[in-house]
Amino acid sequence: MLDPIKIRKDFPMYKNNPNIVYLDNAATTFKPYSVIDECNRYYLSETANAHRGDYDLAYKVDIAVDSVREKVAKFINSKKIEVVFTSGASMSMNMIAYGYGNKYLTSDDEILLTEAEHASNVLPWFKVSEVTGAKIKYIPLTKEGRLTIDNLKKVLNEKTRIVSIAQVTNVLGYIVDIKEIAKYVHENSNAIVVCDGAQSVPHMKIDVKDLDCDFLVFSGHKLCGPTGIGVLYGKYNLLQKMEPLMSGGGDNAKFDMCGNVAYLEPPAKFEAGTMNLAGIYGLGGAIDYLMNIGMNNIEEYERYLRKYAINKLKTLQNLIIYNENAETGIITLNVKGVFSQDEASYLNSKGICVRSGEHCAKLLKDRLGASGTVRVSLYFYNTVEDIDKLCLALKNGGDFLDAYFN
Ligand code: ALA
Repeated sequence: MLDPIKIRKDFPMYKNNPNIVYLDNAATTFKPYSVIDECNRYYLSETANAHRGDYDLAYKVDIAVDSVREKVAKFINSKKIEVVFTSGASMSMNMIAYGYGNKYLTSDDEILLTEAEHASNVLPWFKVSEVTGAKIKYIPLTKEGRLTIDNLKKVLNEKTRIVSIAQVTNVLGYIVDIKEIAKYVHENSNAIVVCDGAQSVPHMKIDVKDLDCDFLVFSGHKLCGPTGIGVLYGKYNLLQKMEPLMSGGGDNAKFDMCGNVAYLEPPAKFEAGTMNLAGIYGLGGAIDYLMNIGMNNIEEYERYLRKYAINKLKTLQNLIIYNENAETGIITLNVKGVFSQDEASYLNSKGICVRSGEHCAKLLKDRLGASGTVRVSLYFYNTVEDIDKLCLALKNGGDFLDAYFN
């Protein structure tokens, strides 16, 4: 099993904040030195634009961007040309909605989501619905909040054109069997499967060929990479069919005064404007870092830590745990009778960072029966001591005022 204490030495955030208990990894993650070094490599010795310069320095940047694209492709088992650099999962999802949804859907069509989805996988589809008249339907979840193939069968029909779901949702944290879903959807409809991988790609081995999803989106900053860089994976024929959300320099072969434009082939077609080059370098560093630890080792360790946390949290009588049986490092809870933000403020007074509120998944409110929750989210650098400190604080702190009087 991996050793988080040893791993922490790679992260300057732990050196500079030695007592921090950081349990908000579903929001963003700490960055190892190697990622920061990669970003710095761009700024300190390789600053030039990509795909535009006819000099050695610019050529070096071209090679670096190409090699990170190759790394991403290996990381998710896609082809290099199926990897588009974006600013993050939200942008990637918007690109699919606007570039594919708005272009190909009509008022006869239906889009399937679930109530557990993050705003980034709901609001872009609301726009598609507004523009095209396509209808949004929600796949019912089980009592526990899981998406099952049986429930998908109840709503999938000949009108379904898009099934867009998270592989791991950001509040309930259950793993959705995308492979099984994609197989059923492809065999029984004309729909495509869009997979929100923001909370799964950082934590487990992903193979898009095996999953057979049509699109996958994820962010760099949730997998130890920089902010402002993300990925849109799409099957190549779909990328070819899709319209670019943005256009400008670098995405076209020619255009004329009559408005005729010849776009480049994907991925260039979707990468108008100067890209976040330092972010791309850093993303490459993050993928190298994670691959070196091993995605299976990361998943194994997070499962172990989750189990430890749940067993300990369950001994506290004052808690409601909303996703006791989830498989991932996301644990959503409340202290009975305490407003989630007050509890998070109390935990903050003990040096513990968690997220509270609705976590951008605002359709879940009725199901949870709470206006907000406290979300604890783990990564491979968290320790059992982090969990012990959390449990002690949760046991002792039942009110916002405890932050001042305890
Ligand atoms: N999507 C991130 C979260 O769930 C920000 O916290």
